Order: sequence, then structure tokens, then C-alpha cells
Amino acid sequence: MKTFNIALLAGDGTGKEVTDEAVKVLKAIGNKYSYDFNFQPALIGGCAYDEYNTPLPDVTLDIAKKSDAVLLGAVGDWKYDTLAPEVRPERALLGIRKELNLFANLRPATVYPELTSLSPLKEEFVSGTDIMIVRELTGDVYFGTPKGIEIKNGEKFGYNNMCYFESEIKRIAHVAFKVAMQRNKKLCSVDKSNVLDVSRLWREVVTEVSKEYPAVELSYMYVDNAAMQIIRNPKQFDVLLTGNIFGDILSDEASMLSGSLGLLPSASLSDTKLAMYEPIHGSAPDLKGKDVVNPIATILSAAMMLKYSFNMDEEHDAIVNAVRKTLKDGYRTQDIMQKGMNAVSCSEMGNIVKDNILSV
Ligand code: IPM
Ligand code: MG
Repeated sequence: MKTFNIALLAGDGTGKEVTDEAVKVLKAIGNKYSYDFNFQPALIGGCAYDEYNTPLPDVTLDIAKKSDAVLLGAVGDWKYDTLAPEVRPERALLGIRKELNLFANLRPATVYPELTSLSPLKEEFVSGTDIMIVRELTGDVYFGTPKGIEIKNGEKFGYNNMCYFESEIKRIAHVAFKVAMQRNKKLCSVDKSNVLDVSRLWREVVTEVSKEYPAVELSYMYVDNAAMQIIRNPKQFDVLLTGNIFGDILSDEASMLSGSLGLLPSASLSDTKLAMYEPIHGSAPDLKGKDVVNPIATILSAAMMLKYSFNMDEEHDAIVNAVRKTLKDGYRTQDIMQKGMNAVSCSEMGNIVKDNILSV
């Protein structure tokens, strides 16, 4: 039997609750299709700081680097809000992305037909929306130097540097074009090239790369317009290509089309085989231990792992279909509860999805 080693980084808050359910589901896939998933837990975020004085200990990085794929829950808790910026839980996320070279972040924003009425937007605008955001994840103003806060002209002055190497733009553009080739072959590249030099380079390089993908229809949009168009007419988009900060902002916005942050998974890919999968939501520390959060985003992240890390399309579809059947049958965690539906806990939701995998 083939064995896959998964680094299991549950993190803080409700991270453990949601990853527990994804593990259940992966084990069900293992049973059904005869694979062995071997999970190696490691600490990341605030819990790692408590134990090792750093949110991203070397042992965790080591386990991640030696694994076939990383499954992450979420990091952060208010009790770490007063820590120095370098050791805050969020730093662990940035650190692991950089250390594992996870430069390509795929964030699907899919509106499930069972849940269109949950969206804060009118159903007719959102129904059928299926956007894939391809966000660059290891560059931009997040990592640019120089940066800091200092005294200048007698007052405090804070600065970061928005910057990209041509090679960084090229490699994320290739990922986005390849993703578009497997979807509806439409790619919209987001920038602010009417103002920013770094965006002018972005547009130039994306245009250059597009010559290798003549089948993909490429368009460009300024980020402010993109923010508006995502609300006005989300169905116009297939794949959106963005830099790190624009993708951070637009992916939160796009997630709301589906009605709940608790539904959306993500994949962070490198140019080696190693990749990391995590829900796009945070750690919800106020809900910790209550067994109420929605595990679907993490379960769907595990599905993305099967597809992108292990090329298991059928197994990926088995999870997605099991989730859809669960929603169709009316099971709802509190974040997606609707009148007349069956309220279930986080662990019940995981069990039902697991049963649906095993029963079909
Ligand atoms: C995200 C988050 C992170 C980011 C934070 C927690 C560092 O918002 O994954 O979108 O800004 O990338
Ligand atoms: Mg974000």
C-alpha cells in the first residue's frame, strides 16, 4: 500500500478541531482507495511560541520539509497580541511560506448552489460563480526591503517596499496560465500599473508569458476596479492573477461571495513537489473547544492536496461530492445555518462527510 506522509500543523484556536475532521476524511479516502496516510503532528503559531519561544520552530520546519504535503489549521490567538512582531503567530505563516518557497497560492471562490442564499449579495449575481485566485505568496511588499519605522525630519516614518523580480512574476504567471488552461481559459491579471512602477513590470512580464499560452484569453484590470467588479459581476471571472498584497485583499472579498469564510480552502505550491494546504479562515479562538466551527474549508483543503500534490483527481472529486451531498441533505454548521436545515457540530459535519465518502 502506498504511504503518504502528511505534516499536520493544527496551530492555534480551532485549528485542531478543523484539522481533526480533515484527517478523518483523508483516512476514509485511504480506506476506500487503499492508501496509507501517515500524519506527523508539529506545533506552529502561538502554541509553538509557548513551547519553543518561536512560532516556527526548526523541528516543525524539518517535519514539513520531509513530508509529502503539509496540512495546516490556523494560527493566532488574542493572548499573543502583545508579543513582539517577530514572534507573533502570523509570522510563522509568512516564515513557512518563505522557507518552503510556497510562491503560488490558489484560492478558489466557489458558490455552491445549495448555499447561494447565504451570500450577502443577491442570488442572481452570485449563483454559478467559480473563481480561482492565483496569488503570488513569497514576494511583494510583504517581504520587500528596506522596511521599518524610524525618525525622519523629526517625526516617525514607516515604510515598506513593494517590489518584484521579473523571475518571480514569470513563475507565478506560468502557474496562473496553466491553471487557466485547465479551467475556462480566461485569465485576468490584476495590477495598479496606472500608478505603480512595480505593476508596470508585472503587466509587461505577464504579457510576455501570455505568448506561450495563445489559447488563454488574457485581460488586465486595475486592482480598485477588480475589487468593484468582484461584487458587481463575479461571474465574469475565471482565473484572477494577483501579487501578494492585492491577492490577500481580493481573496477575502471574493470569499464572501460564497457566504462563509468557513467554506473556502487553499493550496500553496512551490516549484518542488512540496505544498501546503489550509483553510483561508483564521483560528477563531473565541470558539475553541466548542465544536461549532465549520470544518468544510479544511476538508476541501485536504481535497486540494489530493489533486495538486498526489494527482488523485478521482479521490479529490470523491471529497467534493461528499461535501456537496452533505450540504444538499441539509446539514449545516452554525456559520451556514438556514431555516429548516439540520444544525450539526464541527465533528458531526466531519462524520457525515466521511460517511458519504464511504457509502458511495
Ligand atoms: C492570509 C492571511 C495572512 C496574509 C496573514 C495572517 C499573515 O491574511 O493568509 O491571507 O496576509 O497572507
Ligand atoms: Mg488574508
